[in-house]
Amino acid sequence: MQRSRPASSLAALARERKLMASSLPIVVEAKCPSAAIWSLLLVLLLPAMAAAAAAGHGEEMKSIYAGPKVLPVRLGRPAFGPESLAFDHRGGGPYTGVSNGRVLRWRADRRRPGWTEFAHNYKHATVAECAAKKKVVAPESLCGRPLGLQFHRRTGDMYIADAYLGLMRVGRRGGLAEVVATEAGGVPFNFVNGVDVDQDTGDVYFTDSSTTYQRSDYLLVVLSGDATGRLLRYEARTGNVTVVKSGLAFPNGVAVSADGTHLVVAETASCRLLRHWLRGSNAGATEVLAELPGYPDNVRPAEDGGGGYWVALNRDKAWAVNGTTPASVAAVRVVVAGAGGGKVAVELCGFGAATVSEVVERNGSLWFGSVDTPYVGLLNLTSL
Ligand SMILES: *[C@@H]1O[C@H](CO)[C@@H](O)[C@H](O)[C@H]1NC(C)=O
Ligand SMILES: *[C@@H]1O[C@H](CO)[C@@H](O)[C@H](O)[C@H]1NC(C)=O
Ligand SMILES: *[C@@H]1O[C@H](CO)[C@@H](O)[C@H](O)[C@H]1NC(C)=O
Ligand SMILES: *[C@@H]1O[C@H](CO)[C@@H](O)[C@H](O)[C@H]1NC(C)=O
Repeated sequence: MQRSRPASSLAALARERKLMASSLPIVVEAKCPSAAIWSLLLVLLLPAMAAAAAAGHGEEMKSIYAGPKVLPVRLGRPAFGPESLAFDHRGGGPYTGVSNGRVLRWRADRRRPGWTEFAHNYKHATVAECAAKKKVVAPESLCGRPLGLQFHRRTGDMYIADAYLGLMRVGRRGGLAEVVATEAGGVPFNFVNGVDVDQDTGDVYFTDSSTTYQRSDYLLVVLSGDATGRLLRYEARTGNVTVVKSGLAFPNGVAVSADGTHLVVAETASCRLLRHWLRGSNAGATEVLAELPGYPDNVRPAEDGGGGYWVALNRDKAWAVNGTTPASVAAVRVVVAGAGGGKVAVELCGFGAATVSEVVERNGSLWFGSVDTPYVGLLNLTSL
């Protein structure tokens, strides 16, 4: 089978279709919080913003106005909101989860590159409103909402963290995803969010962002100070689910470190990356890895190894006061020196009002997921 070359074929595709980066329409639908919520946000976020301003950043931090260089890789109607991204064991993809609960796959190796459906869930087969041909958009809670995707490369299985349906798995050929876990420690999942797989052990790490609020009320998780989120592990061999860490304030994305000794977890409400040790003398301990300039969503390793991570930010900390400005930070690259602390080394700005939910580095390009856009973004890092 021919190896796909997503980045290069996409650049060609973009040129062909004359998708000028400068005309990139940033899609903002009427999804903003009501005026009351805005003022509440303002009051509650002010102390955090003042602290952030006082803390400042390291001297070497680079701020790059990258948004206008991002190419939109359109999903095609009616697919919307590609939240998460993953590549399979052959490097194929990306795959992405969209707002109607399905998982799509980008095929660059075809005569006409495009997105095809890869996986669906039992609701699509059993609930009329979730059927493929439906024109009316059903609520996400009805048909499912994949918020995290990752492959276990050895088996080719894809794991799907679905906000409403739980942890799911689908084989390498796609099709109907099976639900593999819906509760841990006797407490049902309520808002399943990020996922990653330890490629050596096959263990699946994922987050349940809150046991109180569902995804549709995600703002309340931040505003209420809710700290009922959990970091979880699913053991494929036994089907056993264990609570790795509870009492988290909106745990969101998760990434297994390259050496498997720890997990990096985005804690959205505290604007932090956490490090949770799995092995070694600190096993079981959780510490702050890095303070972030905004509210993190998913986290994925940078390509050159070296312990760096790309972190997507749903909003930067100044947003409640200043709204979206040219200086709004949409994603950051955090560098980590061994077991020491992490530091923001790169800030990406210029994305307009579109929030970024995941950044995956692949072959010298960055792929951007977003719940606000009808496309996945693609940025050639060399062109910056
Ligand atoms: C990475 O990009 C280069 C340059 O565009 C291309 O030649 C190469 O085949 C790509 N590799 C993969 C694995 O996609
Ligand atoms: C990225 O940009 C560099 C420099 O402009 C170019 O040489 C390279 O071919 C580009 N890569 C892709 C995949 O388009
Ligand atoms: C599941 O995990 C718990 C905690 O690690 C352990 O006590 C229990 O024996 C495991 N059950 C199975 C079936 O492996
Ligand atoms: C809002 O914008 C003003 C003017 O650019 C700036 O001085 C201020 O620091 C910003 N507020 C925050 C919280 O970043």
